[in-house]
Amino acid sequence: MPRPYQPSLLRLLHGATALLVPLAWITGLLVYSSHDGRFGRLPFTIPGEWIDIHGTVGVLLWPIALLFGLYALTAGRARLHQPANVMALVALVLAVGSGKMMDEDWLREGQFDHLFYGVHLLAWLLIALAIAMHVGSVLRRGGLPLARSMASLQLRSGDLPGNWLDQIRRSLKIGR
Ligand code: HEM
Ligand code: HEM
Repeated sequence: MPRPYQPSLLRLLHGATALLVPLAWITGLLVYSSHDGRFGRLPFTIPGEWIDIHGTVGVLLWPIALLFGLYALTAGRARLHQPANVMALVALVLAVGSGKMMDEDWLREGQFDHLFYGVHLLAWLLIALAIAMHVGSVLRRGGLPLARSMASLQLRSGDLPGNWLDQIRRSLKIGR
């Protein structure tokens, strides 16, 4: 079987997303445990302005997630035939979209009943499930070689940053 190869723009956007999502997940958990905790708290506290730290991770994540989403819907469309890839994308959009609708003062003021806060908490659970299924599906379909192909630094000719616009343009033409 040929070694799997992932386009460089996909690797860049997917890699940045896959670094920031776990950071958002963990800092979100620390926000929850220190400010809400209705369903339980972590058995320890780590001092820190977790709402601000999480907000900063979120500010870095949302533009990257937006570009990644646009990539997945255009040049990456064929990969969305995999249901687990679609689920990872939907969970990402839900987490980032509801995060954008959050107000940083709600939790500080004890306001836990906002709709978007409920959606944001649900998205936190869903994204963990979706990513577990996504990684499971990747490993089932292509094992470690497919998983590793997403972290590889190898570049083929015709897949350099100068080719990215062309790749998107071509995917739009084929779609019509
Ligand atoms: C993987 C899970 C999560 C992701 C991807 C995520 C993502 C985001 C994003 C993109 C923002 C918007 C930042 C901005 O542009 O201002 C945000 C805001 C926020 N999120 Fe999350 N979040 C997650 C989990 C959580 C959890 C579990 C909590 C805890 C209750 C939480 C609490 C908040 C709060 C309080 C804000 C407002 C912060 C601010 O605007 O400074 N998030 N989140
Ligand atoms: C942490 C958050 C992650 C999110 C939101 C995410 C999301 C996605 C999405 C939406 C796609 C389809 C892209 C397209 O249509 O072009 C994809 C593909 C892929 N992801 Fe992830 N992913 C994440 C983590 C991971 C991790 C940790 C691995 C390593 C095992 C991984 C390996 C892959 C691979 C190999 C593909 C290409 C699969 C294929 O050809 O079907 N992803 N990912």
